Amino acid sequence: MPKFNDLIPEAWKESEIWTDSLWIIPERDNSGKHSGFYHGNFVPQVPRQLILKYTKKNDVVFDPFMGSGTTAYEAETLGRNFIGVDIQKELVDYVRQNVEPSNNFTELMSGDSTKAATFKKIKSTLDVHKIKNVQFAILHPPYTDIIKFSNLKDDLSNAVSLKDFLAKFTKVLKNTIDLLEDDRYLAIVIGDKYTAGEWIPLGFYCMNEAQELGLKLKSVIIKNMAGNRAKQNKEAIWRYRALMSDYYIFKHEYILIFKK
Ligand SMILES: C[S@@+](CC[C@H](N)C(=O)[O-])C[C@H]1O[C@@H](n2cnc3c(N)ncnc32)[C@H](O)[C@@H]1O
Repeated sequence: MPKFNDLIPEAWKESEIWTDSLWIIPERDNSGKHSGFYHGNFVPQVPRQLILKYTKKNDVVFDPFMGSGTTAYEAETLGRNFIGVDIQKELVDYVRQNVEPSNNFTELMSGDSTKAATFKKIKSTLDVHKIKNVQFAILHPPYTDIIKFSNLKDDLSNAVSLKDFLAKFTKVLKNTIDLLEDDRYLAIVIGDKYTAGEWIPLGFYCMNEAQELGLKLKSVIIKNMAGNRAKQNKEAIWRYRALMSDYYIFKHEYILIFKK
């Protein structure tokens, strides 16, 4: 039996855990607390699969870019403890209204995940629960400035350059690694972008930062991006533009899995 999840070897055929490195998710799960209102949020199947694969019941899942709380709701449903941080206080208040008391704790904080002070608060919270570390971390940062999440200076979507973004992201990564239990796992979910006619491989840059910090790369998962453009009937115009130009249309993002 794996040491890091609850899979029962005799029941492996019934497991809902995906095992391929290509995730084509036809549509978002909008059930339960997942409303999908937050532009740039997770397809809930992403945190669900990662939590099932890399945690046991009552482990602590940590999300330093919590957003609208998709990971929090999946952790709650799956009987995991959860700690989430977001720089936008209103979002944290929103998620707080949605979580329900259960046998597991859900601790939510507004703060800047690049800052040591935020992680000091997290450690005090863990002390209250008599826990030293988290067992899984999932990082879904802004993809630089593709979506501007707030006007806050320290919001990573307001980083002034790629260098600034990577420096800030690396701080979050470092703080998170310190909090993570040895031999456990961390996932980064990120996509690339175009700037001034050039493909900027944000995913590869972030992967490199994680490896530089000593994390061991375990998997690179390619996930399809569900089409907002299809909903807005913009597929044809994007195809026309791509045919007339020298680039391909983004349809994928990365889920990078690391072991501490
Ligand atoms: C891509 S979204 C995460 C969405 C989330 N996975 C969900 O399903 O709703 C990135 C989030 O990072 C937050 N953020 C940006 N900079 C931050 C920072 N320095 N510290 C903490 N949160 C930050 C933004 O407010 C935004 O909600």
